[in-house]
Amino acid sequence: MTYRADPARYDTMPYRHCGRSGLKLPLLSLGLWQNFGAARDYAGALELLGYAFDRGITHFDLANNYGPPPGAAEELLGLVMARDLKPHRDELVISTKAGYPMWPGPYGMFGSKKSLLASLDQSLRRMGLDYVDIFYSHRFDPHTPLEETMGALAQAVRQGKALYVGISSYPEQQTRDAHRVLAEMGVPITLHQPSYSVINRWIEEDRTIDACGELGIGVIAFSPLSQGVLSGKYAASASRAGTRGENPAGTLRASHVEPRVLAAVEKLDTIARKRGQSLVQLALAWVLRRSEMTSALIGVRNVDQLKENLGVIANLTLSAEEVAAIDEATRDGRMEMYPTEKGWLR
Ligand SMILES: NC(=O)c1ccc[n+]([C@@H]2O[C@H](COP(=O)([O-])OP(=O)(O)OC[C@H]3O[C@@H](n4cnc5c(N)ncnc54)[C@H](OP(=O)(O)O)[C@@H]3O)[C@@H](O)[C@H]2O)c1
Repeated sequence: MTYRADPARYDTMPYRHCGRSGLKLPLLSLGLWQNFGAARDYAGALELLGYAFDRGITHFDLANNYGPPPGAAEELLGLVMARDLKPHRDELVISTKAGYPMWPGPYGMFGSKKSLLASLDQSLRRMGLDYVDIFYSHRFDPHTPLEETMGALAQAVRQGKALYVGISSYPEQQTRDAHRVLAEMGVPITLHQPSYSVINRWIEEDRTIDACGELGIGVIAFSPLSQGVLSGKYAASASRAGTRGENPAGTLRASHVEPRVLAAVEKLDTIARKRGQSLVQLALAWVLRRSEMTSALIGVRNVDQLKENLGVIANLTLSAEEVAAIDEATRDGRMEMYPTEKGWLR
């Protein structure tokens, strides 16, 4: 079956600028972290990516290590690009990252120039692309001079292998330092990619989001549904079969679904119902309420989830009373994710 893009694909999706850059992203972007590994067949991948693109989702986010196994998501995206989406390359913003463990030995992770530039070349080969739109340092590296890590990003731009650069999970001070170092090299940071959700507010607590606003850096929030916790699927009585939480060794940890977190999720559900919206839609509207926020970076297992998430566009506005009620509902139900749990130091 040949994919034909929907001519109405730009009719409903709003787009926002990344900070002070000229690049715009859709309100919802699609990440390929967990649902595009070797277990996903071509037809399933095309169904999801094609549906997303048909609804105006022009941004697909990857990293060298997405899969499993690591590299599999980039390979699958490469196949979809080659067979079906190639005519639309200029309509797409494709990002990748380097920093987490990818290959054995001292150069397969963190932020040295050696590691970042070799990884970008590997990513381009896997995806069959000449360039990525955005190349990120996936995490701050405390053992490499920031000048070296940022210099590698700047070099990727000068080589034409990346159009824009970004940083991911950098706390406030490191964000300011990275901005200064890159500005001296004549390269702006276009995007910061931190975790952020109604129950994970570290970028507000350490003021990273304020720094981004002040410095003109766009923000794209990853795990805006806290890996699915904000769908309500982890209620005590519910089965975990077929969910991300099914695997006890997976990325959704027991601490993410403690009873106090689930109690907050239940209260949020009541607020969402009053608005005539689903819980995931409320969670996405909340993330998108701030002017610094360019896009919410979601992950979906299937088209039904994506359809529901796209429904947020119909009701994005939250009143001051609703925001206050949401704060109250989540006061004792916050969870820790990167970098507060120090994942960026391992
Ligand atoms: N920079 C970084 O360090 C970093 C880290 C993590 C992620 N990311 C990026 O952010 C992207 C999104 O992360 P994420 O996958 O954790 O985001 P998320 O949107 O918070 O969680 C996605 C999961 O939520 C569940 N879900 C989504 N929509 C749903 C719906 N309508 N109803 C019920 N459940 C729903 C699904 O869980 P089930 O699969 O259980 O059904 C889905 O797999 C990644 O793909 C990646 O691109 C970046």
